Amino acid sequence: MKMRNLALSASAATIIASSVSIASAEDVEVLHWWTAGGEAAALNVLKEDLASQNVGWKDMPIAGGGGNDAMTVLRARVTGGNAPTAAQMLGFDIKDWAGTTGNLGNLDSVAEKEGWSDVVPAALQEFSKHDGHWIAAPVNVHSTNWVWINKEALDAAGGKEPETWEELIAVLDAMKENGITPLAHGGQAWQDATIFDAVVLGISPELYKAAFIDLDGEALGGEQMVEAFDRMAKLRTYVDDNFSGRDWNLASAMVIEGKAGMQMMGDWAKGEFLKADQVPGEDFVCIRFPGTQGKVTFNSDQFVMFDQGGASEAQLAMASAVMSPAFQSAFNVVKGSVPARTDVPDTDFDDCGKKGMADFAEANASGGLYGSMAHGHANPAGVKNAIYDVVTAHFNGEYDSQTAAEELVAAVEGAK
Ligand code: GAL
Repeated sequence: MKMRNLALSASAATIIASSVSIASAEDVEVLHWWTAGGEAAALNVLKEDLASQNVGWKDMPIAGGGGNDAMTVLRARVTGGNAPTAAQMLGFDIKDWAGTTGNLGNLDSVAEKEGWSDVVPAALQEFSKHDGHWIAAPVNVHSTNWVWINKEALDAAGGKEPETWEELIAVLDAMKENGITPLAHGGQAWQDATIFDAVVLGISPELYKAAFIDLDGEALGGEQMVEAFDRMAKLRTYVDDNFSGRDWNLASAMVIEGKAGMQMMGDWAKGEFLKADQVPGEDFVCIRFPGTQGKVTFNSDQFVMFDQGGASEAQLAMASAVMSPAFQSAFNVVKGSVPARTDVPDTDFDDCGKKGMADFAEANASGGLYGSMAHGHANPAGVKNAIYDVVTAHFNGEYDSQTAAEELVAAVEGAK
């Protein structure tokens, strides 16, 4: 833990020292964490779109899946009086910035002109608006309860896509017998937490909501939570010896190359498969985490603009570009996510994308849509990080499942 904090402050210091130049009025300087192959390809769609409107791009990438490092750097920059023009942000972080610092740009003029309120799902508007004003433009909707499986490895393991926890374990066992790493995973807190999203949802959506959204002590420390930790411990047995610290995209590469059977990861993983010219249904299979079909734990990447004494032309142009239906299709086809507006056709999306769009619509209509704990859409960063610490400590064998559930109650209580 200490090492991680040291690494963060070192990277924050480097970024601040190297970013003294200021973007010109026609440029946007964008802070983001899209540095993996599929992510960078999607970002390129945005850069090119803006270039066609004569808006220049000044890149401020902060590597680190899930964006915790990016938020650390952002805070340091804003505190130092050097806010970027725009920043990628998730859920409760947006609320936090809007509520505590109040220095986010107001996007109402473009939002009203373009009727965003009519097309952005209410679950996203919850994070895009503050005190009734638009302060963020949602570029996508990701979800975390997915499993990405190498098709050949699945065929060799019997060929049936697992629909229940028991079937999942049977496939993982068969993959182990077949001599590959069953589960490709990177031991980083946010990745452990991403699997935990799906495991808890798979035990029961009521548990997910009570524990992660309502932060109910009985749910956080109850028998079902102990069972969720037991399942995490079971999954840990299918991971290779070198998993510690591995980046998520390297875990995706293990599945792409057939060295591993599957990865449990949000649909940004699909961006990696596509970048490697893999075809859904032929080279890989996408399924909802067994037991979670019809339910979705979502996170939406949104761009906030930092106030520059009123929104600049370039900021409004960027917000408008991000929200255009054609862009939302082109971008999300590459990114692996689905559009953040309800009126974008699924025509250009592959089978996993079409499934993602249908699942999101179904979950949204039936009350099965939940904000992702792992990606900042269920509770504020302080609580999220407290949950991360317990989940990771347990995954690494520091706690048994019973102790982990007890620690979870205490950690969340302390962070509330
Ligand atoms: C998520 C983000 C995604 C993806 C992922 C891995 O938090 O919403 O867009 O980039 O992190 O970096």
